[in-house]
Amino acid sequence: MKDMIAASVAKIRSLTDVRPEIALILGSGLGDLAAAIDGVEIPYAEIPHFPVSTAPGHVGALIVGTLYGRKVVAMRGRVHLYEGYTPQETTYPMRVMAALGAHTVVLTNAAGGLQDDMQVGDVVVIDDQFSLLIACGMDPLIGKNDPEIGERFVSMNQAYAPELIRLVREIAPEVKQGAYAHVTGPSFEPPVLIRMLRSTGCRVVGMSTAPEVVVARHMGVRVMALSAVTNIAVASLESQHVTNADEVWESIQVIAPKIRKILEAAIPRL
Ligand code: HPA
Repeated sequence: MKDMIAASVAKIRSLTDVRPEIALILGSGLGDLAAAIDGVEIPYAEIPHFPVSTAPGHVGALIVGTLYGRKVVAMRGRVHLYEGYTPQETTYPMRVMAALGAHTVVLTNAAGGLQDDMQVGDVVVIDDQFSLLIACGMDPLIGKNDPEIGERFVSMNQAYAPELIRLVREIAPEVKQGAYAHVTGPSFEPPVLIRMLRSTGCRVVGMSTAPEVVVARHMGVRVMALSAVTNIAVASLESQHVTNADEVWESIQVIAPKIRKILEAAIPRL
């Protein structure tokens, strides 16, 4: 693993002198935020060992440069478990960004609202995560551990940095706060699963983020994450609503500017 990461880092460093301090993993339809970065764009296909994203709305490129006065590395498009990648492959870019020097990662995602007080258009700052997948066999840390990269057993308490949650809430008091329920997708959750996830107290559900957060913590990287609530999860068989990708996509266009504004204020302070 160390050699693979070193090869990826060497390739990226051969293309830019920028030494990023902040990593950005931008979710569905939010990749355009990366357009504001002044820097070089490196297609994933050119980086040794990088997985290539295939999901709609995910352009596969790493962008290294300056954003709002800070040196950043951004994933324009992430890779998901539902594309067929393993948890280890899905999180490999996070490892490379940490090895490039990022001390903090900012993640964004599209998510379904789980609780009654959630509305389409809400932004949620994530403070915890619930993933049966990670708990029961898809933990990206499964496998031989290299103590030079991180510890064997990693605490997930306060995995989302409390000071960064406070920062987001100070910048944007209207932002809601809560835990993220993680599923693989790509099928949307059936109502009975939504009812189970609601009972955990999680406020949003989505198909990304949680594995990358485990790996970020393994490598000692601070985490800040925002969900864009693009739809309300269907909890009842009586509902006629059909959750679909078009609904998610349309909502994200409306929410993206809100997230961009938050990041514009937050990134200089990370
Ligand atoms: N479920 C899972 N992932 C999602 C959803 C959802 O309702 N909305 C956007 N991403």
